[in-house]
Order: sequence, then C-alpha cells, then structure tokens
Amino acid sequence: GTPATVTPTGAPTGAPPESKAQQGAYLTTATGTRLPDTDHSLKAGPRGPVLLRDHHLREKITHFDHERIPERVVHARGAAVHGVFTGYGTAAGVTKAAFLAEGVQTPVFVRFSTVLGSRGSADTVRDTRGFATKFYTTEGIWDLVGNNIPVFFIQDAIKFPDVIHAGKPHPDREIPQAQSAHDTFWDFVGLHTEGTFHTMWNMSDRGIPRSYRTMEGFGVHTFRLENAEGATTLVKFHWKPKAGVHSLTWEEAQITAGADPDFHRRDLFDAIEAGAHPQWELGIQTFPDTPDQMFEGIDLLDPTKIVPEELAPVQPIGLMTLNRNTTNYFAETEQVAFHPGHLVPGIDVTDDPLLAGRLFSYIDTQITRLGGPNYNQIPINRTHAPVNDMLRDGLHQHAVHGGVAPYKPNSLDGGCPFFAGAAQGGYIEVPVEVAAAPRVRQAPATFDDHFSQPRLFWASLSPVEREHLIDAYSFELGKCYEQPIKERYLKVLAEIDPVLCTKVAQSLGLPAPQPTGTPTDVQPSPALSQVGKVWPTT
Ligand code: HEM
Repeated sequence: GTPATVTPTGAPTGAPPESKAQQGAYLTTATGTRLPDTDHSLKAGPRGPVLLRDHHLREKITHFDHERIPERVVHARGAAVHGVFTGYGTAAGVTKAAFLAEGVQTPVFVRFSTVLGSRGSADTVRDTRGFATKFYTTEGIWDLVGNNIPVFFIQDAIKFPDVIHAGKPHPDREIPQAQSAHDTFWDFVGLHTEGTFHTMWNMSDRGIPRSYRTMEGFGVHTFRLENAEGATTLVKFHWKPKAGVHSLTWEEAQITAGADPDFHRRDLFDAIEAGAHPQWELGIQTFPDTPDQMFEGIDLLDPTKIVPEELAPVQPIGLMTLNRNTTNYFAETEQVAFHPGHLVPGIDVTDDPLLAGRLFSYIDTQITRLGGPNYNQIPINRTHAPVNDMLRDGLHQHAVHGGVAPYKPNSLDGGCPFFAGAAQGGYIEVPVEVAAAPRVRQAPATFDDHFSQPRLFWASLSPVEREHLIDAYSFELGKCYEQPIKERYLKVLAEIDPVLCTKVAQSLGLPAPQPTGTPTDVQPSPALSQVGKVWPTT
C-alpha cells in the first residue's frame, strides 16, 4: 500500500548540502520562465512610468523584502560547522544508544553562539557561550544543547524570560548590548542569588574564550541513560577540547572586539579551511540513579550546581572532529533548530525544572522563527533516519503525503492494521515513578544553597585569577548607575569571600558589608568541603 507519509527528498545533511550556485546559463523567474534582462523595469517608453504588470520586478523586490527572518530571541549571534562524531564504545554499559558504540561514525552539526547580543554583535564580549550539537544518528536526531559554563543562572524555567529581559539591552535606550554591565542585570542577580555561581564564571578568566576551538561544553542538566538491560544511570555531559581550555583576558577581549568583531567566527572557519580540524572528547560523569537523585549532598536536579570532578571523574565516550565549513550561512547556521527534546533510545531527561521548560520552549520559538511547524523538513534539520510521522499540512509543507488514513491502526492504507506499542521497540521513556505529592509553586530545600560552590570556586583560584575576578566585578558593577544595586551585590560578594568583597567595594568607593547569613546561606556540604582547593576540569 501507499505509505501514509512521504519524507521530502534531498541530500542528507551529513553529506555536502544541495548547493545551487545560481550561475546557470539563463536567468529565470522562480517558476522557471527564462528572462533576458534583470536590470531594467518594464516602462512605458525609456523615460515613461514603470508598469505595475512587471512580474519580474515585483517578484524580485518582494522576495528581497522578505529575506530576513527573526533572529533567535537568545543566542542570535552564532557560527556553525559540520563534523563527525566517533563513539569509543565505553558507554555501552550505561546506554544502549547505537551511535555511542565503538567505531560508529555519526555526522554532526555544531553551532557556537553568544547569548545576549544580536546577530551582528561582537564575538569577544563577556557573555555565556552556547555549544549546541546535532547528532544525525541512525536512530534519529540527538541534540545536546549546552553551554560553555556548567551551571545556569536560574533553577526554574519560569524565570527564563526574567533573566533574559534583565540581561538584554535596556528597553528605553537599547544599551548596552551583549555585555552584562548594567543595572537590570546586577539588579536581577543581586535579588536572585541562585545566579551567583554562573555570574562568577562569567566574571572569571573562564568568561571569554580565546577561541571556540578551546572552549569546553556542558550539557548542564543531569540526564538519565538506559542500557540494553533497562538499568538506568544519571549523567552529566562534558565536551573537553583537545586543544586545551584557553581564554582571553578582558584587555585582549576589548581590543579584539574593536579590531575584529568577528574574531571567533573567523578563527573557526580559518582553522577548518587550513585543515586544523578542532576536536573535542565527549565525556560523562555518572551517578547512581537513586530515588532522591542526590549525589554526595548535591541535588542533581539543581542546574546551578556542578558535581566536582574529584567526586565523579569525567569518563570519555567519544571523539568529535569538526572538519567542514558551511556552504550557506542562512540555510545552515541560521535555519538549524536544536531542541533538548530531540532524544534517541538510551538517553532520557530528568525532572530538572529548568529542563522541563526548555522542552516546551524551543519548538514553540522555532515555529515563529522558521515560519511554521514544518522546519524539520529544512535540509539542515532533516534526520538521517526514516521518517513516518503522521504529521500533515501546515505552512511550508514540502512533502506530498499520499494515502488517506494518517492514523494508526488503520485498515485503509494497508499500513498498520494494529499498533504494537512498546513491543515495537523504539524510544520508550524510562518508567520513572512520579511521586504522589501536593501541587505547589515552590522550590525544594535542596535548591537553597547558593554560596558554597562560589566559595569553592574562589578557593580554587590562583592569585592572578583572583585579581582578574576582582577587576571584572569592579568594572562591570562600576557601570551601574544605581548605587543601591552595587551595594546589594557587595552583600552577595560578602557571602563568597571577605577579601573579594572588600577589594571590589574599594574599587567602587563603597563600604564593604559584612556577611549576613541570609536564609540561602547554608553551610557547604561535607562532600564539597572535602574537595578543598582543587578545581575541576582541564
Ligand atoms: C537557544 C542553551 C536554558 C530558551 C539556545 C541555544 C543554546 C541554548 C546553546 C542556541 C541554539 C542554537 O545554536 O541555535 C541553553 C542552556 C540552558 C538554556 C544550556 C540551560 C541550561 C533555556 C531556557 C529556556 C531557553 C530555560 C526557556 C525556557 C531558548 C530559546 C532559544 C535558545 C527560545 C532560541 C532557539 C531558537 O530560536 O532556535 N539555548 N538554554 N533556554 N534557548 Fe536555551
């Protein structure tokens, strides 16, 4: 019988994309009618009025008028390249994901980005970086949509619009851009101290990468893996650059932003063009999937916490090599659509409340950004696995669906007289128990500790790194107009360390407050104290 749905044809995205140089022998309209002239409008005589009936003029200008699509609401500035991922096979004990088996090669597309700046903003600003990877596996697409900082600003997705509005340019004057140095940002992180750790990473020497090639990546949330026997393990994902982790100092970053605002983008493209293909190892930290989803006193569902690598080493599970530049920035980099819900068998999500909001958000924003619900048919977003999705119609539908019965079971299209459900295999959510609990708008008490990991970070820094951190807080807070915002943030710094607080206060010409022991200031857990001065990674 006729299949109920037909996948649009076209080269898979792992191969060089279909590329039209638009250099054929003849010019045509979009509907293929040959044109002898594209330089003159149709007029009544050489000096006469232009005639409305000139279809070529109208088509050419109308298409141009609609060339721009909305930029991403966050992560608008980005650069992306193709590559290949090779599994080591070392994850076989914890996940049945086929692409992680030994020697399996999977095409990937990686987009690096800043978060707050617009599409044309500079690369070397002080900002978090996105590190989003699309794996075109044989079992469907897996997107690892991570950042270069292992923790996030907030613990619950309901605050995401708030933190982004606080970080984006002021609504009245649209300044500053792509930089965290303004009143709303410091107001927000002073009043929401769960952002202390992420902000500290931004201010630290890890804040501005030297190159995308020397940047780490983190999945941030805890994910749940399932092996072939059905056993589950909680994990955090890490990308470790083979070239090591290197950053820019603030002075270098400022000069670079002036001299070459495209510095990171150019560096990535030039390196690949020159055959210096950057590589990252993908690694996992593993934790037992216990009912409380805690590890050594750390709540694994809290995306503002790391698990120090001394407590859970990162175990390498594969190698990624980026080896091919894009052919067309718009078609690939601008139109790619990542989604943390694009999962393959063996990889599942957890109840991290930030992740839950993300699962809703990306598909929603992409419907607006990419003009309707069929953006997975755009070449860069097409899976390499067969598609039979029963989705129909919608804006920019490219498939010509046959059959009459887009439902299962059906007895009309000869497709599937019954639906086998779980017995059929495929992606099956891990049957985690959902606790019988009252409905509340409330965070768990295990999310309350906002300062012990910032203290750990401070304790791990060398003297020069501390100087840079003090300089960064002083510079950025110094850009606030409102003194109460600076004073409030000094109280946050007082909770981290008295020297840090005093030195920043001196730079700002303000008195240094004493630590107040706010309700969120719980003592570091014993496990964290054990870590001492050793800071994870690199
Ligand atoms: C885009 C990472 C939290 C909403 C992105 C991108 C990355 C990313 C890397 C860029 C994707 C690309 O290159 O196209 C993260 C990480 C988060 C986080 C690591 C937390 C751990 C959130 C939350 C929300 C959100 C909580 C909303 C509730 C969005 C939206 C986009 C985006 C709307 C634009 C997507 C598009 O237009 O295609 N995020 N994000 N993100 N993120 Fe997040």
